[in-house]
Amino acid sequence: MNMKTADALLTLVVIPLFHGLVHEAAPVAGLNPYPAQSVTAPRSTAAREYLLSHNQARAAVGVGPLKWSEMLANATSRLVRYQRNKKNCQFAKLGGNKFGGNQLWASGAREPSAVVNYWAQDKEFYDYVSNSCAPNHDCGEYTQVVWRKSLELGCAQAVCDKSSLSICFYNPPGNYNGERPY
Ligand SMILES: *[C@@H]1O[C@H](CO)[C@@H](O)[C@H](O)[C@H]1NC(C)=O
Repeated sequence: MNMKTADALLTLVVIPLFHGLVHEAAPVAGLNPYPAQSVTAPRSTAAREYLLSHNQARAAVGVGPLKWSEMLANATSRLVRYQRNKKNCQFAKLGGNKFGGNQLWASGAREPSAVVNYWAQDKEFYDYVSNSCAPNHDCGEYTQVVWRKSLELGCAQAVCDKSSLSICFYNPPGNYNGERPY
């Protein structure tokens, strides 16, 4: 289970709320051009950005791209909605899931690229030769992002009053003990 709290992201400047995300504003008459179905559509801006950010981190170490999975996106969408509605956007329990999972809690809505880059920045603590992480760091989010055998990606974000929860699922899952990510 990989989780990270993004208090450091507080320093990012203006972070617009993505309509492609799971946040469902109460519909204002005539002012809501975003059908609920678009929250995880592969062609949505958010989906493209989650995918692109992952594939940039993968390409940087010579790993092939992920493909967007509507099934995984729907699964993350259901999970973040549940965490939003019942758990005030706290971390979800990802253990026992058949997919790989990364999640990020933040103090407000975050752009998909900021979410993925936050996981990917642990690259600097990961040592490929010894396949280990520097003390007091967790490289699990990064190694899942670049896990070569993971082929499909789906992500979603839910926004609560003063927080957000973003989750990505990976299929097949990565982070097997003793295996290198690539
Ligand atoms: C994903 O959810 C959308 C919207 O509810 C639905 O139309 C679509 O069939 C679902 N796709 C999969 C693969 O579950």
